Amino acid sequence: MSVRLCVFDAYGTLLDVAAAAREAAAAPGGAALAGLWQGLAADWRAKQLAYTWLRAAMGAHADFWQVTQDALDWALEARGLAGDAALRDRLLALYRRLPAFAEVPAVLAALQARGHALAILSNGTPAMLAEALASAGIAGHLDAVLSVEAAGVFKPARAVYDLVGARFGTAPEEVLFVSANGWDAAAGAHYGFVTAWVNRAGEPPDRLPARPHHVLPDLSGLPDLAGAA
Ligand code: LAC
Repeated sequence: MSVRLCVFDAYGTLLDVAAAAREAAAAPGGAALAGLWQGLAADWRAKQLAYTWLRAAMGAHADFWQVTQDALDWALEARGLAGDAALRDRLLALYRRLPAFAEVPAVLAALQARGHALAILSNGTPAMLAEALASAGIAGHLDAVLSVEAAGVFKPARAVYDLVGARFGTAPEEVLFVSANGWDAAAGAHYGFVTAWVNRAGEPPDRLPARPHHVLPDLSGLPDLAGAA
């Protein structure tokens, strides 16, 4: 195997999606979230992903910013917080500027130093990704930021994974696809990418038609994996 290119999922893989609720709970005015920010963050993320899959299956695409707001509205209402417009605004503003996980900048720099091209392939809109990657300080490491908006459908549609070859001229097996979302890593493997699943939560593998080739607890081992791959 000869890996020319490392392609990363963004949300949950490079960017810490739980940070918005965690930071809102810790900030002034965050008392409403005390003791429930973890559940809110989990519901927000679960509904956000479910809405992407459902909209793809329904042929009813809306962009990821719309889906992110819809999912938050569900999660807030489920906890009796639907009327708190200031909290909603604060959570959405924080979501636009999610931090990267601690190891990310050094890992991206190490991969670049070893000659790998780096890209993102994400459900996020181009505007969301540009804002978040700039505020996380990692935009400069990336050769391309590919958004599903170019395909008009969400992951795991094959048309989304096709965006990588269309941009870089790579065959799937020349790409190391890295995702912390087990279903995304499985779908990438099914597509033909070499895949690394970043299993931060120690979850069991998804029972889908393909399994990720590699499993890492975080991104730290990626430069060695990509070098050996
Ligand atoms: C993304 C979601 C799946 O960035 O995390 O595509």
